[in-house]
Amino acid sequence: MNAERIFLSPPFAGDAERRAVMAAFDSKYLAPTGPMVDEFERRLAALSGRRHAVALSSATAAIDLLMAEFGVDCSWTIVAPTLTFIATVGPAFHRGARTVFIDCDETGNMDVTLLGEALAELKRELAGAFKVVVVGVDLYGRCCDYEAIEELCRRFGALFVVDAAEALGATRNGRPAGSAGVAGVYSFNGNKIITTSGGGAIVTDDGALAARARKRSQQSREPRPWYEHREVGYNYRLSNLLAAMGIAQLDRLDWILARRREHADRYRQRLRLLPKVEGENHWLSIALCASRRERDELLERFARANIEARAVWKPLHLQPVFNGARTYGGKVAERLFRRGLCLPSGTGLSENDFQRIFKVV
Ligand SMILES: Cc1ncc(COP(=O)(O)O)c(C=O)c1O
Repeated sequence: MNAERIFLSPPFAGDAERRAVMAAFDSKYLAPTGPMVDEFERRLAALSGRRHAVALSSATAAIDLLMAEFGVDCSWTIVAPTLTFIATVGPAFHRGARTVFIDCDETGNMDVTLLGEALAELKRELAGAFKVVVVGVDLYGRCCDYEAIEELCRRFGALFVVDAAEALGATRNGRPAGSAGVAGVYSFNGNKIITTSGGGAIVTDDGALAARARKRSQQSREPRPWYEHREVGYNYRLSNLLAAMGIAQLDRLDWILARRREHADRYRQRLRLLPKVEGENHWLSIALCASRRERDELLERFARANIEARAVWKPLHLQPVFNGARTYGGKVAERLFRRGLCLPSGTGLSENDFQRIFKVV
């Protein structure tokens, strides 16, 4: 009989989460809003070092609301790392914005020298029509260079937001993930550091932005006794039941982070991993293989052993849908894609799981 499947990063939840969801159920706050949403937002704001948090149905929704806030349309350019998940740029793409991709450095995060070149070139080309959002990404739970990106965006007059979907609990020079730029974004998707089964958030110091995002996430209803709309909004709010689960997950965040660190240390003793980044949350451990062939062989062997492993993100500039998008560099991301392997990194990995994993590698 096949051994039980080991997943890449499955949800880790138990009695505490069940009790929290049931208590929210019993409280009768079954509509999208409620006291658990407010409490979850307070906790997220504190954790991110930001003044405000807006709890939403996904990180993709959070990024979309930021694009709505900036008024992104086909006259805008979105500059983002090429090595990331498509949702980083998806909302801007749907609004017709042009996407420009930047290679990564050896850590996997956006190469800030290339970012500087891109912004300088866009400034020369667009002059007075320069409308640019830089979406930084904290790849695999490793914060990008907040200070350098903030400085570049200040210099060129670009907006900066951080896609910290993968990075809850990580830090950069003592600053929490998501604390740079105009706003940060988290994901509570099922495979993330904490899960609400599906969810996300915006964190920001800008109270007016948070209020507008909250309003847009609930169809942009005006506070009237009837349905009054000055603009068309979205249905992106997180439900009270799921916020209750999020709070229970946050209660164990320190423990989760410690477990993930242990897993990464264990892998590092045996395998060559992506270079360490100070403050990372070890969402996923990434092994660096000697060649694409070795990576493919390992993927196949993991599959045969019923263990989920995955190639590193395929760079966005190689995706057919972004064919022809301007890209600064790209070779480093391509090499990481060919050789990088995401290893099972779930909070609940057991001794027996590790034995099976190491047997494969
Ligand atoms: C970097 C990055 N951005 C955005 C997202 C989208 O998050 P969600 O699934 O919550 O929309 C994810 C993961 O799913 C991600 O890894």
